[in-house]
Amino acid sequence: MGRPRILSGMRPTGPLHLGHLTGALDNWVGLQDSYECYWTIVDWHALTTDYADPSAIRENILEVAVDWLAAGLDPKRAALFVQSDVKEHAELHLLLSMVIPVPWLERVPTYKEQQQNITDKDLSTYGFLGYPLLQTADIIVYKADAVPVGEDQAPHIELSREIVRRFNNFYGPVFPEPKTLLTPTPRMPGTDGRKMSKSYGNAIYLKEPPETIREKLRPMVTDPARKRRTDPGEPDKCPVFDLHRAFSSAATQEWSAHGCRTAGIGCIECKMKLADHLIERLAEIHARRPQYASRPDTVWDVLREGAKKARETARATMEDVRTAMKIRYA
Ligand code: TRP
Ligand code: SF4
Repeated sequence: MGRPRILSGMRPTGPLHLGHLTGALDNWVGLQDSYECYWTIVDWHALTTDYADPSAIRENILEVAVDWLAAGLDPKRAALFVQSDVKEHAELHLLLSMVIPVPWLERVPTYKEQQQNITDKDLSTYGFLGYPLLQTADIIVYKADAVPVGEDQAPHIELSREIVRRFNNFYGPVFPEPKTLLTPTPRMPGTDGRKMSKSYGNAIYLKEPPETIREKLRPMVTDPARKRRTDPGEPDKCPVFDLHRAFSSAATQEWSAHGCRTAGIGCIECKMKLADHLIERLAEIHARRPQYASRPDTVWDVLREGAKKARETARATMEDVRTAMKIRYA
């Protein structure tokens, strides 16, 4: 107690990949000593896009939770929970919806972008428009001081600060303005050279066994200038080298860069060296994983316990909110 509070969340998209590790989890694990942490799997946010077929959400929640625990999120120090287990998020979302002007939501950059990019779903819904408002409720229902997120989420946290200012203006100072704790997100290409993403089918997952990691790296896209073994390459133009930057030792990075530029090494050699480092990096996660993966009941227990703790904080906030809004009647 007394430590500053942080909250962050992930949508239940299924098994987590290397991008989640370097872009979020590594950072979150390190924050657990200095902050009171709330880590939430946001199933209602998943519904904003997957409402027509929510059948995968349950399994995906479990996959995320197992990967979280394997990666070192620690239920002894932090609350790990499913968003919909804490109904206060929904109540606050509703109350905030009275206060936020619709144009604030319409001008969030991800809104029109996603509507244009995701063409196989009808996203002209009320719920999808409200996505960042629900995210605001997630954060401020814990009076979080800060939110560790990547650059892509910064506009959403900025919006949450604007909503807090408007709310506090009307009803008095209930919420702190949540700061953005920007997580540096190193470039993390998938095997085809595009940004690593489940939807591109180019991801390397945290749970992937060592042989699969090697199999996936072997055909990975490289610097297109290196057609033959004898052609020199440029690491700065090679997505494999981005992964070296994230996972290999300084010595290996030097070896790879020099070998590449002088055509002293082959790409397979370079990739298998990367595989060695990656496998070593994932060893701890792989060691921790089976105890959770083989016992889903214990994972659901962890999430239930986390929700209990989260609910206490959220319930206290909602008392303050109702009082401030003068809707506590008796
Ligand atoms: N929108 C976030 C994402 O897509 C997920 C999220 C929901 C979140 N609620 C949050 C992140 C609250 C931080 C805080 O990654
Ligand atoms: Fe990429 Fe390594 Fe091949 Fe160079 S040697 S192009 S860094 S895979």
